[in-house]
Amino acid sequence: MNQKIIITIDGYSSSGKSTLAKKISKKLKYKYIDSGALYRSVALLAIRKKIFYSDLWNTKNFIPILKETNLKFKWNQKYSQTDIFLNGENIQHKIRSKQVTNKVSLIAQIPEIRERLTLMQRNIGKNKGIVIDGRDAGHYVFPKSELKIFMKGSIEIRSYRRYQDLKKIGEKVSYEEVRKNLIHRDMMDISRNISPLKKSVDSIEIDNTFLSIEEQLNLIFKFINKRTSII
Ligand code: DC
Repeated sequence: MNQKIIITIDGYSSSGKSTLAKKISKKLKYKYIDSGALYRSVALLAIRKKIFYSDLWNTKNFIPILKETNLKFKWNQKYSQTDIFLNGENIQHKIRSKQVTNKVSLIAQIPEIRERLTLMQRNIGKNKGIVIDGRDAGHYVFPKSELKIFMKGSIEIRSYRRYQDLKKIGEKVSYEEVRKNLIHRDMMDISRNISPLKKSVDSIEIDNTFLSIEEQLNLIFKFINKRTSII
């Protein structure tokens, strides 16, 4: 398995994309790009710059601020995870807050922001050997990727997973609130004009409502082995 490939994992919010992507990247010793973390970081920056309390003209004004911002992924050896830094500050936990989660869909609709974050992802993946999770990785960011996976799961199981994650980081939120937010984000993801969540025709769809992580990984590694043995 010497030939490095690009593996894209797109799908609905909280469908378990990042859990799988992390495990696959660890096993293959590939880089992991959490593209949602990029959009969340920009949302955090926008909240800090108070753009949500201003009009569209000020939103446009936000782009130059973004251009001056230093956004970087760094591998954290101690916790086996990719940390994300905004102007040198580790914002790994801050981007998971309810406030950021509620605003990120608005940020993900702005074409200039998508363009910038797409270039950043392509740059990280230029030498292959990456696993990337997102919404448009397979059909837009890396349309020539060797393995494309599309994840889905019932709204109930996805809401429950997100609810557990938020509880773990101490957010005071109800299951119903999380469920409503997910329904809203699904709608925003699907109906976005630019780069909406979409299943590529050449992707493998996995509905993990009733699948364990091990079962999903076994399935995915069958495809990875096929792809890496024919190139
Ligand atoms: O995967 P996540 O929940 O951390 O993503 C956060 C938000 O970012 C999600 O509401 C949709 C948006 N997003 C996007 O538009 N494109 C991506 N490639 C990744 C995430």
